[in-house]
Amino acid sequence: NAMLQWQRTGFHFQPQKNWMNDPNGPVYYKGWYHLFYQYNPEGAVWGNKIAWGHAASRDLLHWRHLPIAMLPDRWYDINGVWTGSATTLPDGRLAVLYTGSTNTSVQVQCLALPTNPEDPLLTNWIKYEGNPVLYPPPAIGAKDFRDPTTAWLDPSDKTWRVVIGSKDAHHAGIAMTYKTKDFVHYELVPGLLHRVPATGMWECIDFYPVGTRGDNGIDMSEAMAKSNNAEDVVHVMKASMDDDRHDYYALGRYDAAANTWAPMDPDADVGIGLRYDWGKFYASKTFYDPAKRRRVLWGWVGETDSERADVAKGWASLQSIPRTVVLDTKTGSNLLQWPVEEVETLRTNSTDLSGITIDHGSVFPLNLHRATQLDILAEFQLDPLAVDAVVEADVGYNCSTSGGAAGRGALGPFGLLVLTDRRLREQTAVYFYVSRGLDGSLRTHFCQDETRSSYANDIVKRVVGNVVPVLDGETLSVRVLVDHSIVESFAQGGRSTATSRVYPTEAIYANAGVYLFNNATNARVTAKSLVVHEMDSSYNQAYMA
Ligand code: FRU
Repeated sequence: NAMLQWQRTGFHFQPQKNWMNDPNGPVYYKGWYHLFYQYNPEGAVWGNKIAWGHAASRDLLHWRHLPIAMLPDRWYDINGVWTGSATTLPDGRLAVLYTGSTNTSVQVQCLALPTNPEDPLLTNWIKYEGNPVLYPPPAIGAKDFRDPTTAWLDPSDKTWRVVIGSKDAHHAGIAMTYKTKDFVHYELVPGLLHRVPATGMWECIDFYPVGTRGDNGIDMSEAMAKSNNAEDVVHVMKASMDDDRHDYYALGRYDAAANTWAPMDPDADVGIGLRYDWGKFYASKTFYDPAKRRRVLWGWVGETDSERADVAKGWASLQSIPRTVVLDTKTGSNLLQWPVEEVETLRTNSTDLSGITIDHGSVFPLNLHRATQLDILAEFQLDPLAVDAVVEADVGYNCSTSGGAAGRGALGPFGLLVLTDRRLREQTAVYFYVSRGLDGSLRTHFCQDETRSSYANDIVKRVVGNVVPVLDGETLSVRVLVDHSIVESFAQGGRSTATSRVYPTEAIYANAGVYLFNNATNARVTAKSLVVHEMDSSYNQAYMA
């Protein structure tokens, strides 16, 4: 079926077939980036035979698919080799901790090691003979204890710390810290690293430092070793909320001696404030890349079509484009996510269309050769006179409920229509909506409208997005990665991101196009800069059933 085949991506990671979910144990080892992932070898849906799929790459884009690293084959993981993380030890070796779902579905933590540390491809793995190494502590549900983080060394006692997520009896999400010398014996550190009421089970916790000055990433153990400079780093706590299936993070301060982390802004605590992505993006995990001194984020991008469709096409889910993560030093209150620089090596045909002005209530077709794999960079500017002319406050805007790209306000929506057919009926809109607040200042929403992304009707289609900070003197900027069935957008340098799975039926192959649109009632918009790069495939799209 050509239409289902077309949905496979050109430069996003996906296994050759079957179901995938969380990224697991991402790590750089002897010149190779490794990505493990939750994988069902038996089909295109999640099940109780989840294994660790495995691939390796030199550049985070071109992947070599490797044999399954770990199968559920012991009593302690027979119901699934679940999510876990890799830790690089001071001697360069690796230790992997993962959650096993036992023969009675208890969640236990297990240790695994590469069979041959000399093998840069880390092809074979041994499960530690004394597994499991950690059981749920008293008062924690047997099925609420999973997804160990990467460990870090605490210099005060030279032992490792690992964080595991759970929920307590009051439905608060919690982060528990363990200490270990050898990854075999563990001791629960008194207290909770953090707790947020009413947030439920915290899956896939990630905990890492970002620098308050530089753009470089920071290894957690390195940051701890320099903790006399605590002012130089902020610690990010991220949890994947099982209740609403979104990844939330917050910026805060870590007090290792007290085993506490606290958000800098209590109103922006984990689960309350910031999200990594407003679209489909879950169970993400970062790793520190020592080769390029950066922190890289992977996220699971699930399907939004039906299970039946997934079975028909024989596969389900993508990984997001790997994203570098740094603190936004301009706002100081959020992270910036940006596609790793390697993505730029896939750019081929580039078209510079800077300077196009789009009148209110109009669309403008971009003349492109191919529009199914793109990297688009656009900067928009509203006509300043029109902005000044809008004096009335308009405060009720909400990406999800205000009519999406078809709605009309004085100063938006405007932006790009991608994966659009010639009749402009199948389209995914990536747009800004600007309005004046009660205090007279401008507020900008960044949204992505999936509601007309496909003629198919077995698909969840929403408008996603939220307010994005725009500082004085900044234009409205967006980078959009289009890759067949995924639209992954980064606004304001990565302050806000939105990822959509889309399933066009008409806007495919040579019928897919890109348009500028401006649905504002009062203002012209100029695409001050607009460059569209066609993208090479990073690996063969051939689908092997
Ligand atoms: C998150 C998650 C994890 C678990 C894994 C099982 O998507 O539910 O909590 O370890 O997936 O596949």
